[in-house]
Amino acid sequence: MNRDELVAKAREAMKRAYASYSGYRVGAALLAEDGTVYTGCNVENASYGFTVCAERAAVANAVGQGARQYKGLAIVTEGSEAVAPCGACRQVLSEFAPRLEVVSESDGQRREWMLAELLPEPFGAGAALRKGRNESN
Ligand code: THU
Repeated sequence: MNRDELVAKAREAMKRAYASYSGYRVGAALLAEDGTVYTGCNVENASYGFTVCAERAAVANAVGQGARQYKGLAIVTEGSEAVAPCGACRQVLSEFAPRLEVVSESDGQRREWMLAELLPEPFGAGAALRKGRNESN
């Protein structure tokens, strides 16, 4: 699975977006350490605040299927500007993938970052709280 293939998976996921309110469709594809790809799309709601971003949907999909280690994330959006994941998604991604490569593509533009550049100081109390607890929690 190379970068272009991962972007293609995110593009497919974008087509399944439920973006009835913003009209802004987003797709995400998360590449797990074992090579499996988990996708997500944004899912909006009439009560706007309950909207789920594509990236967090992809994380929930992956974790729900037992995958917690990722090496790459592709995001595809409509419009001319390739966008970085929102702050909430950066924090959620950092929980599982501190060294994640992120690629974002829109119509005619592609950008790439490491997650650590996008979120240099994630909230990391989770690691401290987990110490001494069962790893499967
Ligand atoms: N959105 C995402 O899916 N990912 C982001 O990182 C930022 C925003 C979605 C949420 C909403 O459905 C639409 O984009 C407009 O904000």
